[in-house]
Amino acid sequence: MSKNFYITTPIYYPSGNLHIGHTYCTVAVDAVKRFKTLQGYNVLFTTGTDEHGQKIQEKAEEVGKKPLEYTDAIVADTKKLWETMDIHYDSFVRSTNPQHEKNVQELFQKLYDKGEIYKGEYEGYYCTPCESFWAESQLDEGHLCPDCGRETHLQHEETYFFRLSKYRDKLLQYYEDHPEFIQPAYRKSEMINSFLKDGLDDLSVTRSSFDWGVPVPFDKKHVIYVWIDALSCYLTGCGYGTDEEKFNSYWPADVHFVGKEIMRFHTIIWPAMLMALDMPLPKQVFGHGWILFDNDKMSKSKGNVIYPEPMIDLYGVDALKYFLLREFSFGHDGSFNVTSFMKRLNSDLANDLGNLVSRTVSMIEKYDDGMIPEPHGETELDQELKALATKTWDGVEKEMETYQFSTALQVIWNLIRRCNKYVDENEPWVLAKGGEEELKRLDTVLYNLAEALRIVSILLSFFMNNTAISIAEQISASTTFVADDAKKWGLLESGNHIGEKTIIFPRLDIEKETERLWAANSALIESRQKASESEGEGEKDVELKPEITIDDFDKLDIRVATVDSVEDHPNADRLYVLNISMGKEKRVICSGIKEYYTKEELEGRQVLVIANLKPTKLRGVLSEGMLLAAEDADHKLSLATTMEELKSGAIIS
Ligand code: ME8
Repeated sequence: MSKNFYITTPIYYPSGNLHIGHTYCTVAVDAVKRFKTLQGYNVLFTTGTDEHGQKIQEKAEEVGKKPLEYTDAIVADTKKLWETMDIHYDSFVRSTNPQHEKNVQELFQKLYDKGEIYKGEYEGYYCTPCESFWAESQLDEGHLCPDCGRETHLQHEETYFFRLSKYRDKLLQYYEDHPEFIQPAYRKSEMINSFLKDGLDDLSVTRSSFDWGVPVPFDKKHVIYVWIDALSCYLTGCGYGTDEEKFNSYWPADVHFVGKEIMRFHTIIWPAMLMALDMPLPKQVFGHGWILFDNDKMSKSKGNVIYPEPMIDLYGVDALKYFLLREFSFGHDGSFNVTSFMKRLNSDLANDLGNLVSRTVSMIEKYDDGMIPEPHGETELDQELKALATKTWDGVEKEMETYQFSTALQVIWNLIRRCNKYVDENEPWVLAKGGEEELKRLDTVLYNLAEALRIVSILLSFFMNNTAISIAEQISASTTFVADDAKKWGLLESGNHIGEKTIIFPRLDIEKETERLWAANSALIESRQKASESEGEGEKDVELKPEITIDDFDKLDIRVATVDSVEDHPNADRLYVLNISMGKEKRVICSGIKEYYTKEELEGRQVLVIANLKPTKLRGVLSEGMLLAAEDADHKLSLATTMEELKSGAIIS
């Protein structure tokens, strides 16, 4: 009987226009699904959209739409992208799906009935962009969000709490007993040191200041916290509430793939909630790294994004998938770079793989009238090739067990490169000019190459399905890929007529193509910006803060300062630590602008600083002032500065 395997991507915010960083995880899950299917598992792959919450409600209001109307359009785009990328998910859970909402209410009710949720009064700080609550004890004096450095606001409202604090020791014990639960293993220490070491607070799990969410079943003034809602999508995705048999056969999930910044929700809140519900925990949560852009986080508002569409239009979906999984080591951050993309296309795809396919097919066409020849005997070289080809599956399988896609691909490329070397060693073009013995040898060599390519096509099928099909068709092998066939030699039938010759990856002029890709990406960014501007035409007016007097304003000491140097904050991914000077005065300021500016863009620039703001510690670093910046409704951010360069330290009045 075949076994089941359940894998999920995160449940994406419908923020519109997913960039290649967003597609990374889904491409990886898709490859795992196809691989596990070949291994004989019944795989279930869930993805979806996380559509509730204040942020979405506000966004929809900004463009004059109802929240669901707003998310409908984005969800349609997301599904279209997955289709273009040939992503084979089995279940797409929208958190606004009525069955899902019913499930969330049922789970919430269960927690309440078990005494795991209680009513209280929340006094805490909320960061709207991150949809995160912070207790006062977690913040420094400035009350800026420790994750993004933006202002939080004090919320004082009736709320329901989940008894998260009670699960601290149980979680630590669970991590200890299940070392495979958090992967890569070093993320476990991050969770313990940053969140569990000093104890856990109970978690506020309802909001009553907005209503775009799943209503609490026993108190309709409240809506359920988006993370409870979103995490539960993993249960809905495998049949919770609709198909008990399916649910029981797929839950607990084998693995959740998530980005590193949302590990805490998946390895603390989610398991605690499941423990409270007496439900089994997912077997593993794998936190992958970020794809950075020039060593900086990709961000739509900053314009430093690369979208998948131009890459797919120009080079095909398999080139993008190969690049994502080969270039970056799953688990670690990596930087996107167009030149590395072009180089991978040229060297790995065009030179190694493309060349092998094209020369093999051409030679069979030329020397054997397009028929797969018959092999005659076996030399040492042949045996070596055969041994490598038939054991490559095992090497790939070993890497796939730990989701090391890049090394799995390297193992496949070892075989591809070995095949190319085999061509050079045997010189078929010389054999073709010889007598009977040489012609027999030529047939053996060409058969072996085609047979090795048959194995390569199976090995590539879970990473680059279209390419695998094209290779198999060209050498007249089966396009129904079977794992065991990759471990056997001699399955390709002699006498078969080869398929039509196709160039799978042409060689590129790197300079020209780099320009072409940038131009296509910039055109897309521009057209998307225009579309979002016209969508926002019905925007509501800005709400102003209460009036102040000139005396109030006079209390502020705003100065022109120069940024001397910029460092990453040691404990917060989104913060920079800036060393600035105002005349002779030197200061250190922490600011959440990492998403928007590179260090090089900041160093040497003049900025405006509130110089008399009481110093406050941000994640352990003392921040002596605040940079002034403007942020518009699209969360586009720009630092404030003066029109002309002034002497550092000049007063703004
Ligand atoms: O966090 N590189 O959704 P989301 C790699 N709704 N991964 C990236 C990335 C990049 N440059 N940018 C984003 C949410 N991601 C929640 C999830 S799950 C119950 C709820 C990844 O749309 C990011 O790390 O903001 C995350 O895993 C995923 O995209 C979705 O992010």
